Amino acid sequence: MVSTSETKMAYPPETTAYAPENKMSPTSTEGTKSATATAKLRAANVNFHYGSFHALHDVSMEFQENKVTALIGPSGCGKSTFLRNLNRINETLRDTRLEGEITLDGQNIMDFDITEVRRRVGMVFQRPNPFPKSIFENIIYGPKINGMLKGTSAAEIVEKSLRRAALWEEAKDKLHESAYALSGGQQQRLCIARALAVNPEVLLLDEPCSALDPIATAKIEDLLVSLKDQCTIVIVTHNMQQAARVADTTGFFLMGRLIEHAKTDMIFKNPACKETEDYITGRFG
Ligand SMILES: Nc1ncnc2c1ncn2[C@@H]1O[C@H](COP(=O)(O)OP(=O)(O)OP(=O)(O)O)[C@@H](O)[C@H]1O
Ligand SMILES: [Mg+2]
Repeated sequence: MVSTSETKMAYPPETTAYAPENKMSPTSTEGTKSATATAKLRAANVNFHYGSFHALHDVSMEFQENKVTALIGPSGCGKSTFLRNLNRINETLRDTRLEGEITLDGQNIMDFDITEVRRRVGMVFQRPNPFPKSIFENIIYGPKINGMLKGTSAAEIVEKSLRRAALWEEAKDKLHESAYALSGGQQQRLCIARALAVNPEVLLLDEPCSALDPIATAKIEDLLVSLKDQCTIVIVTHNMQQAARVADTTGFFLMGRLIEHAKTDMIFKNPACKETEDYITGRFG
């Protein structure tokens, strides 16, 4: 295990864009290009406790605008805990404590109204969780409670969201049927459509394909790549091929710490830390 400060020191030069405390050479092309990248979401020195259990240790991480970031690491290392802090879902749990700062466009997410955080930072869970309502009602729920129906028809929002989630063709003739009549993969795309219906700026996905077959998985992966023009995406995955296919950068977690965060090909081909290498080569986890 390396300490956080050692981890920062271990970033190879190609990864400096994701380590804001590292100084980049203004004359280097990589540095110049990276310096223009914008961090949409930033976690600084995040510690999180479930009661007396210290689940996240001093995690600092930036999520660049219009990029896909994958979070990987063995079961129980804190990926979901970290993700759930990024839109304040963890604060609904009793006896938990968050320290450090999470900012969205530079503003502390604690300063926002909770409904604004949830609208701007959407979330899709591991198991599809449609509401026990029709497909149409599932999608229109968020826009309705966020007062977004003025001037735009509900039908337009439903069609646009289903198209963005690559579900329109399969769902257009049964919009008023129960969401439970859809297959698992379709339900997961419905949950993505529901999250997209409020135009989130960031989309968090916690192992969204773990219950899906390869065809449904491929659809969701294509969707994520196509969505990044419109939002910043953070995906937790145990599937390293999936991270390699969809993510611009990947962060490796181990025992509640972020060990390294770098461009995805660096993480898989030339990781800076031995722990990362051991994990991606299957030596543990
Ligand atoms: N609600 C909770 N109350 C107490 N401890 C929790 C709670 N949720 C998670 N933990 C603990 O926090 C640690 C991190 O859990 P977390 O779910 O974030 O891991 P993970 O990396 O997402 O794992 P997996 O890959 O299995 O989903 C684990 O030790 C877990 O037991
Ligand atoms: Mg998890």
